[in-house]
Amino acid sequence: MRSEVLHWANEIETKILDKLQQVADRNVHKIPYTATDGSFDDCSGEKIGWWTNGFFAGMMWFLYDRRKSSQALKNALDIEEKLDASFLNYDFLDHDNGFKWLPTAVINYKITGSEASLNRGLLAASNLAGRYNTKGKFIRAWNDRTGQDHRGYAIIDCMMNLPLLYWAVNCTGDPRFQQIAENHADTVINSFIRPDGSVAHIVEFDPVTGRRLRSHKGQGYEHGSAWTRGQGWGIYGFALSYRHTKKQDYLTAACRIADYYLDHIPENGLIPIDFNQPDSCTWEDSSAAAVAASGLLELSGLVQASDRERYEEAAVRLLEVLSKQRCRWETEVDYFLDCCSASYKEAVHEYPIIYGDFYFIEAVLKINQHAIDIW
Ligand code: GLY
Repeated sequence: MRSEVLHWANEIETKILDKLQQVADRNVHKIPYTATDGSFDDCSGEKIGWWTNGFFAGMMWFLYDRRKSSQALKNALDIEEKLDASFLNYDFLDHDNGFKWLPTAVINYKITGSEASLNRGLLAASNLAGRYNTKGKFIRAWNDRTGQDHRGYAIIDCMMNLPLLYWAVNCTGDPRFQQIAENHADTVINSFIRPDGSVAHIVEFDPVTGRRLRSHKGQGYEHGSAWTRGQGWGIYGFALSYRHTKKQDYLTAACRIADYYLDHIPENGLIPIDFNQPDSCTWEDSSAAAVAASGLLELSGLVQASDRERYEEAAVRLLEVLSKQRCRWETEVDYFLDCCSASYKEAVHEYPIIYGDFYFIEAVLKINQHAIDIW
């Protein structure tokens, strides 16, 4: 990494951690998803099953790791315990178990060796493995909460949840976790990645025969389009599967999706919700930029020197644009990134979302080699 980049990233890290300490001190007992007028909301209580509920804890672990902040540690442990309510509710357990328990119980176990956290992580991993469809060789994404039939649905985001299974193999020695993770990743290569290197968000299989039926547009602009955050999950998820398995196909897949992404970054470096949305639509998704940046940095550590530089430079550019143009540095504002969008089809767009902040911070820490290995 160039020395000016390292200098810049060090300065940004200091600003992030200084602000994050104040955010931690005034958001005790909260599990934020978004913010209103600069103040975090709270997904404890009825919203405890929400898929993003691990990210703030992950940010607290980053802060604890760098600054030994006792408040950050308390907040992280509090969230991990609150998530226990999900284990008693079938609908609160789904393919997102990785997003919820990797930045909480699993990182706690890795850092402290807590037996309670090991137990939580293994419960979450076992439930994730239990979602595997043996005919279609995919992990089912969601339950049928909305009354829709989701038995055959698999989604690209799940690539980020596979590290929970890789971790469980290491803890238990049980190869089922590995087999399920690899089979799912192989299915994604065969059924999600398009010839141009972009990925579908949702693919539906016949839940009985396992036959691929169709793809769905999901959170992107239209059927067949390239939802940017989904491209980011693909880059990062396949890079992680390669890191955990050393299977060349996963590295090739990560590079194909990354190359598609790099070819479509707009001139101004700000990432739209979908690379195929109409030119007249200016809606952005900063979280898609942050996820891709962190994924590209992961990937850059796994490839040959010529690709390493390309991926690193693209990641740094995304982060520089975010930090200069989309970051709220005022310490009294709880969140970091403006202009995140959960979905093209939602009524509202461009607001703070916790995973945008998480991946932005993780990526900056990675440049400084200060990130803890959540995935
Ligand atoms: N995992 C769902 C999303 O990225 O919105």
